[in-house]
This record gives sequence, structure tokens and C-alpha cells, in this order.
Amino acid sequence: MKYYDKFFNGVNRRGTDCYKWDLQKTAYNTDKILPFWVADSDYETLEDVKEAFIERSKNGAFGYTLYTDELYDTICKWCYEHYGYKTHKDNIVITTGVVNALYFIVNMFTKDGDSILVNPPVYNPFYNVVKANGRTLEYSKLIREEIDDLLFTYHFDFDDLEAKIEKCKMFILCNPHNPVGRCYTEEEISKIVKICKKHNCILVSDEIHCDLIMEGSKFTSVGRFFDEYEDIILCTAPSKTFNVAGLSESNIIFNNLTMASAFNKTYEDMSIEINTFGLLGCLISYQKGSEWVKEQNYYLNENKNIVYDFARKNKFKIAKLEATYLMWIDITRLGLSQDEIFNKLIEYGVWINNGTMYSNDCNGYIRLNIACGRKQLLDGLEIIQKFINEYDKK
Ligand SMILES: Cc1ncc(COP(=O)(O)O)c(C=O)c1O
Repeated sequence: MKYYDKFFNGVNRRGTDCYKWDLQKTAYNTDKILPFWVADSDYETLEDVKEAFIERSKNGAFGYTLYTDELYDTICKWCYEHYGYKTHKDNIVITTGVVNALYFIVNMFTKDGDSILVNPPVYNPFYNVVKANGRTLEYSKLIREEIDDLLFTYHFDFDDLEAKIEKCKMFILCNPHNPVGRCYTEEEISKIVKICKKHNCILVSDEIHCDLIMEGSKFTSVGRFFDEYEDIILCTAPSKTFNVAGLSESNIIFNNLTMASAFNKTYEDMSIEINTFGLLGCLISYQKGSEWVKEQNYYLNENKNIVYDFARKNKFKIAKLEATYLMWIDITRLGLSQDEIFNKLIEYGVWINNGTMYSNDCNGYIRLNIACGRKQLLDGLEIIQKFINEYDKK
């Protein structure tokens, strides 16, 4: 395998003003904590991307940059070859990130008094972009279902979902779903599209994690249903897949051309432009990165199995990871509050995300980012083991 060692060995990000690694200096006055929180990776991006940046830097001038037809064609090709839907330059608005795009999507395509549906537990900025625009949040909680002694998963409560969608102007879906690791099936996505169409509810699908698919799972983009319903908006980006989130480039794909041009106009009016390296990073990742994606998924799948074994050994239940590099672990059996879990783990030397970030009732769950070198993962699990042992002895 061409890239495996890059993933396996990881990269030292300390001292690079890395949010995930260097915030601890100001937050906890240390540099010893192993971070498994922020959703980016602790290994280098694709070598071709690095080389393209070095080559581009040699020119030394970093003025305003064109969004070239080559870039749009490359995005369209990637979407067709990897996710199976066709799109076109006019349907794509390139933005400085998915979350700011979501903010403007809510702002532009809903009105005061409109309700917007989300599925807790879900990526917390979904709540923020709705609240920040003064819209009303509607919730259709995912239902937890036990698979076996180790694994559980989540599914939609379709009756509840439809009853809520009837009242909502917009539904923000997370597919694949952060933090529960679901990669929704074709049947589930098809049902969602039908329900949204029936009730004229705009379907926004955040598909930022869609390249990170575990063995045995298959990603179905909502884009596969473009022919069935016009008001679909997809949020995609190379950022998670190729570890280029700091370059702030994402691609928002509108099935409805009127929406696309209105949205484009907002970005133009505000003169929101993507930086030179964000555009180049997307171009090269999508031109050269197909094999890299396969190998990364192979590697992540190994990390996933290590964490499964760890959970099994400690009698914790864990969400079946179908997609993303974010694992969702239920450690409620320790009987600790979320604050106790978080603070104790920081004391031991590991930084995780709290379950309650994603839903108030997820006290005792943790989200663990496994996109790191093998040593870091094993060292982190060893530290978490010490923490567990302290409570298991009591
Ligand atoms: C589902 C989801 N959407 C969006 C983002 C962030 O996207 P951006 O950095 O492009 O705003 C994340 C990051 O974790 C995410 O998990």
C-alpha cells in the first residue's frame, strides 16, 4: 500500500498553532494531553497536495484567485465517480466552510417563525446556526437500537420524523451522521426525500464525512435523488477526507438553480472569497486522491477494530461505526457525570468530546476521534484504561 505508513506513523502537530493540540497550553497549561476531540486528522495530507502548495508558494504572490472551470469540472467528476450523482458548475457554490454555508442557507431559505428539523444527537453547530438566525428548532431524535453485546446503532423514527417535517420549512440531515457514525441506507434516504417532497420541506444534507466509509458500509448521497425532488442542498468538502479543514474550502451543491444563484449572489455581495490554498487543495485532492481515500478507510477500519476490542474488554457498548472517524462510546456504566468524565480524563491526559455536546440526554457518552497514528491511539487507550480502572476498583 502506497500511503499506509503515513497514516500509521501520524504527524507531530504540536507547536503548529494547531487547535486540537495547542489549545491545551492556554486551557490547561500543559502540552502533555493527547487529543481525540476536534474532527481533523493527526496525519499529513496527500503528498501531491503538499507538493502543489510548495510549488505554488515559490511564486510568492498570493493575490485574489480565480475559481477555474478546471476546479468545477474536478468537483463534478469527483461527485459523479464517488457518490454517483451528476452536477454542474452553475449548481455549485464554493464557500469558506460548511458551517458558515449552513448559517446562510438557514438565513436565506427560511423566514422568521419557520421551524427547522434536526436529529439529536447531532453535530452541535446545527443547533447554533438555527438559533443564531432566530428560527425554531424541531427535534426528531434518533432511536438507539442494540445490535449485540458490544454494538448498538441508531435509526429514524419515521412516524415522528414525518409528523415533524409537516411543520418544518427545512430539514438539516447529517449523512454520514456525526457523532453516531451512521451511514444511512438507500432505503432510508429515499424515504426521507419522499417525505420532504410531500411536505415541501427543503432538504439540506451535510455530507462532509462522505468519503470516510468503513468496511461493509456503503454511502448513499441524497444527490442520487436529485431527479425526484428539486429542493435538495448538499454540503460537501475535501476538508475531513484530506485533512485540509484549516484551508476553509467547501462545496455547496444546489439541485435548485434559483437557490444556487441567490446563494451565490449573497457570497458575491459579501465578497466572501476562498483563499488560494483552499482552492488548490480541493483541486489536487480530488484529482489525485482516490487511492488515498481507499487506503485511509482501510487504516481507519483497523483503528476502529482496536477501539471495538477495547470497548469489549471494558464492557462498554459502542455505536457501530459505518462512517466518519468519530466513535461514539457509551460509558454510562461507570455512573459518572459528563463533567466528571471530561475533567478526570483531562487529568489523566486525554481530551475527548462530551456526549452532551450533541444532545442533553447523552450524559455518559464520549466521542473519540480515531484519525491518528497507531501509537497515539494505543497510548490514548492505555490512558483511558487507567481512568476506567480507577472507577472499576471502587
Ligand atoms: C457534520 C459536520 N459538518 C461540518 C463540519 C465543519 O465543517 P467546516 O469546517 O467546513 O465548517 C463538521 C466538523 O466536524 C462536521 O462534523
